[in-house]
Amino acid sequence: MDGQNMGHPVLHDKLKADADRLSEALHNMSKLFLAPKEEKSLRRFSTAEVAELLRVSDGYLRKAHFDGRIPDVEQGPGNKRSYSAEEILEIRRILSENAKDPHQFLPGRRPGDKLQIWSTVNFKGGSSKTTTTVTLGMRLALRGYRVCLVDADPQASLTTFFGYQPELDFKDGGTLYDAIRYNDGDQSRKPILDVLQKTYFPNLDLVPGGIMLSEFETETPTALSRGEQPVFFNRIRDSLRQVEDDYDIVLIDCPPQLGYLTMSAVCASTSLLMTIIPERVDLASASQFLTMASGILEVLHSNGGIGAYDNFAYLLTRFDTAISAQQDLSEWIRQLLGESVIGTPFVKSSAVSEAGLSQKTIFEVDLAGSKNRRTYDRALESVIGFSNDIEEMIQTAWERGGQDEA
Ligand SMILES: Nc1ncnc2c1ncn2[C@@H]1O[C@H](COP(=O)(O)OP(=O)(O)OP(=O)(O)O)[C@@H](O)[C@H]1O
Ligand SMILES: [Mg+2]
Repeated sequence: MDGQNMGHPVLHDKLKADADRLSEALHNMSKLFLAPKEEKSLRRFSTAEVAELLRVSDGYLRKAHFDGRIPDVEQGPGNKRSYSAEEILEIRRILSENAKDPHQFLPGRRPGDKLQIWSTVNFKGGSSKTTTTVTLGMRLALRGYRVCLVDADPQASLTTFFGYQPELDFKDGGTLYDAIRYNDGDQSRKPILDVLQKTYFPNLDLVPGGIMLSEFETETPTALSRGEQPVFFNRIRDSLRQVEDDYDIVLIDCPPQLGYLTMSAVCASTSLLMTIIPERVDLASASQFLTMASGILEVLHSNGGIGAYDNFAYLLTRFDTAISAQQDLSEWIRQLLGESVIGTPFVKSSAVSEAGLSQKTIFEVDLAGSKNRRTYDRALESVIGFSNDIEEMIQTAWERGGQDEA
């Protein structure tokens, strides 16, 4: 700092210095506390969990092991089997080869089925968009679907669930931004495959987000005025085309605003999922969102930005069943919005928020010796419930009657 500013540093210098200090300190702290992404690993699953995931009985599974139809797995105390997610997938493949209906165990797309792209939206911050997206993504991956998660939020909280620190790991690129950015000098967008990351979770890939995405909001008006193609609402859709055949389902986590990123995600989607907390203020903002969205979608529709949606579904989130006002409001919402409201709500649970503190979903929490088993089970029941509801909507979009039966 020069002599003139010794006593009163200019603001931008001070902010820059503070930012650098913070960033370095965070980096050091994360090395101490956070498992780096290489170390993030998935727990094993019990026989009961695997039976539920495969939609067979425990006995069916035990017999398949006994008959040698599927490879055996690790056994712990009391000869209790435990399965890794990879082993569950392998068992799916083997069982599907010999099943009367091979899709019973691999319920994903068949020839002619279109890729399902769901965006999670609401401009109410904290309405559980990210938690819902990542939890649903993991559940669908465990159910045997090939899932790609796309983090379209500059806050990049979805990305942190996979052990990344976006501000450090993608400082020099590697996010969705690279795949949708506009031309600037010799820089232009890259194939989405360049930024797509495999994760420690089998069947689940990630297109990371990061603060760079906010550039998309500021650059879109100028790109529009110089007529750069494709226009903003086609850019996410265009980039996803390159991986069209690699997935059954893409889930896009949107920022809490109706900006260009959200609109681009909405236009890429085949279905929309709107999270709503059954509270009065949240309903007011949901109503504002819908009014704004309908105005914008009308314009986009007439410009060829969007076509028909398979579903516009509402999910009640952070639903506190102990609060009667929330019960009443949720009933009221169901009466108003009817079938669009997903049958099972995502209940509010400390099992979810506590797991979230260490960037985990409830599927990743280790339950060994847990005192909160009942709380956990209740949350899990809710997650499985709404995920199954959404899975059924996906199966319906593929014109299949109901879910696969065991
Ligand atoms: N079912 C739940 N039970 C308890 N806490 C929850 C639940 N779902 C989400 N939360 C907590 O609520 C907070 C906000 O959730 P989340 O980040 O998913 O919301 P969001 O809509 O993505 O927020 P933003 O608008 O900032 O993107 C987090 O601390 C999360 O752990
Ligand atoms: Mg979020």
